[in-house]
Amino acid sequence: MEPDTNNARTVESYELIADDYARETAGSRVMAGALDRLAEAVPGGHVLEIGSGPGWDADQLEEAGVSVRRTDITQAFIDQQRARGKEVDRLDAINDDLGGPYDAVVAIHVLQHVEPDDFTAVLSKVAGALRPGGRFLVSIPIGEGTSWEEGDSGRPYYRVLRSEDDLLAELKRAGLTPAWTERSAHEDGWVCVLAQLR
Ligand SMILES: C[S@@+](CC[C@H](N)C(=O)[O-])C[C@H]1O[C@@H](n2cnc3c(N)ncnc32)[C@H](O)[C@@H]1O
Repeated sequence: MEPDTNNARTVESYELIADDYARETAGSRVMAGALDRLAEAVPGGHVLEIGSGPGWDADQLEEAGVSVRRTDITQAFIDQQRARGKEVDRLDAINDDLGGPYDAVVAIHVLQHVEPDDFTAVLSKVAGALRPGGRFLVSIPIGEGTSWEEGDSGRPYYRVLRSEDDLLAELKRAGLTPAWTERSAHEDGWVCVLAQLR
């Protein structure tokens, strides 16, 4: 059966390239500074990671003393992490309950695959899954419009680009106050925001 949403079609692509993705991103540590900042903000805390992928960022957070609930929608990423002894839950950020409350939620390189209407709903679910004062670490590509990007594998990925101002406004509307923002020095065109639940 054909996937019935842009997100589902994108996930189908990830199912096929998960091993390549893990190989290409292993050891890159492009988010190292932001992850350290988060770990310092919630020492020893309990964090939900949405779209963990290969789990490299969760590894770094755990090394920093934070406990991470690793989740992803793509079964190939779940299997990959389980094969290296990690506990991973299947979680669809759009349709599933996020659980909680958590000290922080992380969604790095994930929410560009979520349609605008769903994006607003996901942010409000994130806010609802945080303890008072909890943190949300998010990174998205900056730009405008939607597109289908073709990866090296030739597979399609649906991407929504937003301006930094739009992202900050959406976060505020969800009750998440941006506390720190960084344009990535490692990835052209990406912004990372650490926000705090009011
Ligand atoms: C570019 S990868 C990023 C993986 C990892 N966070 C990283 O930075 O390397 C995008 C991730 O988003 C996940 N994803 C896409 N749609 C999702 C959804 N609806 N719910 C949860 N995860 C989703 C994919 O399975 C994939 O792991």
